[in-house]
Amino acid sequence: MTAATDPSRHVRIYEVGPRDGLQNESVSVPTAVKARFIDLLADAGLREIEATSFVSPRAIPQLADAETLLAGLQRRAGVRYPALVPNTRGLARAEAAGVDAIAVFTAATDAFTTANIGMTVDGSIAAFAPVLARAGDLGWWRRAYVSTAFGCPYTGRVEPQAAVDVALRLLDLGVDEVCFGDTIGVGVPDQVAELVALAAGAGIAIERQAYHFHDTRGTALANVAAGLAAGIRCFDSSTGGTGGCPYAPGAAGNLATEDLVYFLDASGWDHGTSLDGVLRAAMFISGALGKPLTTKVGQAGGWNQGTGAATGRES
Ligand code: COA
Ligand code: ZN
Repeated sequence: MTAATDPSRHVRIYEVGPRDGLQNESVSVPTAVKARFIDLLADAGLREIEATSFVSPRAIPQLADAETLLAGLQRRAGVRYPALVPNTRGLARAEAAGVDAIAVFTAATDAFTTANIGMTVDGSIAAFAPVLARAGDLGWWRRAYVSTAFGCPYTGRVEPQAAVDVALRLLDLGVDEVCFGDTIGVGVPDQVAELVALAAGAGIAIERQAYHFHDTRGTALANVAAGLAAGIRCFDSSTGGTGGCPYAPGAAGNLATEDLVYFLDASGWDHGTSLDGVLRAAMFISGALGKPLTTKVGQAGGWNQGTGAATGRES
């Protein structure tokens, strides 16, 4: 069986560049640039593109144009464009904007959720209950993030059981998927394997676990490899390697989609995404942000195994 026909070799790449990537940028990104970025990501074959957030514009000014962005976007069949929603107010905005996939977000630690959304973990779960119930009635796809699953910028090391406990409560509220986030990029492969196993042992099926690694300390791809070995088939990444949370001091960019795609291609995983297409989108967004593209594959390009030449950096 080839990679393309073997479902066990299929990996979902969940693109977070337009949301996690841009939320922390200091320059204001025009809505049309965001829309073009999202189109380029879809052109590259990405099928899950987290587009924006319906959060307080005071908390995240960079995403205050969520309605305008979605109104102008040509949403394509077969592409999911989830938006972050923190409360019922955000849900109403998402509904009015014609969204059909959302992500709620809490954390493994009270200190982080309090800084990020002004609620304890318990408070966030209570706030999400009506959001997720309504989204379920509407037939929407629902994801929940458990941020700081490996470590917290305010309280340090996080026990994996704490992340699993929060994930179980979110699954009880009906989410389709939980995404464990290494928000500040401190986790290492053994911890990923431990968390996957602990979550699976607690009844969280492998197919309902996704992982979100920041590459702050260079461990993101190694963590993906550990996740793959443990059976995980959904990873978040950000084209151009942008990203970070304003409430997570020191958080560097997400794992770059181009680095992930190169790694998956060369390792024989099927994911439906074109590296050249991702590099095109990465060069576009780094140009728009006025920053050099500093990701590994963004700088080196892909690699043609037949000729030995670098690829994808010419356009
Ligand atoms: N969309 C737009 N505005 C919203 C909103 C939403 N979903 N929820 C609340 N607001 C507004 C309120 O109307 C209020 O506005 P005002 O100051 O003009 O009256 C303001 O935001 C504060 O609302 P309040 O209910 O007092 O909440 P808060 O100040 O405790 O903030 C959140 C709570 C969740 C709204 C806010 O912390 C937030 O949006 N955080 C998002 C953080 C984030 O996205 N982090 C990155 C993801 S990891
Ligand atoms: Zn992130």
